[in-house]
Amino acid sequence: MRVLSGIQPTGRFHWGNYFGAIRQMVDMQGEPENAFYFIADLHALTTVREPERLRANIRDAALDLLGLGLDPRRASLFIQSEIPEVTQLTWLLLTVTPMGLLERCHAFKEKKARGLTADAGLFNYPILMAADIILYDSDQVPVGEDQLQHIEVARDVAGSFNHLYGDVFVLPKGKILEKGGKVPGTDGEKMSKSYGNTIECFTELKAQRKKIMRIQTDSRPMEEPKDPETDPLYQLYILFASEEQKAEMAALYRRGGFGYGQIKKELADAAEAYFAPARERRAYFESHPDLVDDILREGAQRARAKAAEVLLRAQAACGVRSLPK
Ligand code: ADP
Ligand code: TRP
Repeated sequence: MRVLSGIQPTGRFHWGNYFGAIRQMVDMQGEPENAFYFIADLHALTTVREPERLRANIRDAALDLLGLGLDPRRASLFIQSEIPEVTQLTWLLLTVTPMGLLERCHAFKEKKARGLTADAGLFNYPILMAADIILYDSDQVPVGEDQLQHIEVARDVAGSFNHLYGDVFVLPKGKILEKGGKVPGTDGEKMSKSYGNTIECFTELKAQRKKIMRIQTDSRPMEEPKDPETDPLYQLYILFASEEQKAEMAALYRRGGFGYGQIKKELADAAEAYFAPARERRAYFESHPDLVDDILREGAQRARAKAAEVLLRAQAACGVRSLPK
């Protein structure tokens, strides 16, 4: 079984990215041949138009992922654009993709609904993602909830290609993690870079505490009992808490008679302790840049070997690259 996932280098990773996607990637590591994780720089090109910033983001993404527990002995980490086969497969898939399927995809649809002009890159984004998945015979794709639609697209186009040309591609499945399904941001909405409500995994500790203290809460009196399940602060706290701490906190909510400031402080302490080992690992990789390059190169080598095999299979099936090798 092969697990594959990608994440865009569009900024520093936040708690939503970690609990929604990265933690699952880490949990599903096994053998470097069977766990493929990549930094989706070609996808990021649809939003990041400054080369220096993109290069820095890619580097930060690699360091963040290694810090957060991606282990090069148990997974292959690589940069998407190091595998040129992926854009070749994208074309083959585009030829079996109905326009309507892409028109329904949310990134494009939302941009259009807001009256903005979308470029063809954004329109075709889901097919590049489908190619990312299909190119390595991936079985499972751990992602956050909002990416499930794209995995369905990948299944659809792989199915269409198979229908036309025989049993060429493995049909992938998405996998979401229950608890991290939707991490709320500091304003109570879904945590997302686009909403400016994020708390990054590696924010400097003082700044992190400040952000936590600014999380929006309601103004009900302290004594009033509260429902923990609907409170974003509690939702954040339980990401870091043990079962016992969770139960205690839920009981406190139901009893009432507490201040949100006290909960925020506990959240800050819990988050700080939780990410402490990750901070140390990240610092280690940051001070060993050649090691990081080697990890990314070796990852790309393994990915390319598999990609070449699958691309050739697809080309042979649909009748291109027909000169004898
Ligand atoms: P952002 O919304 O900040 O731009 P991305 O779209 O780059 O984040 O998301 C990268 C990955 O992290 C995706 O798999 C996505 O589903 C997951 N993710 C992002 N935000 C959250 C969140 N608040 N809760 C759960 N998962 C999330
Ligand atoms: N579109 C994904 C995101 O924004 C990133 C991504 C690109 C991806 N290719 C992928 C995720 C392939 C899983 C599999 O988060």
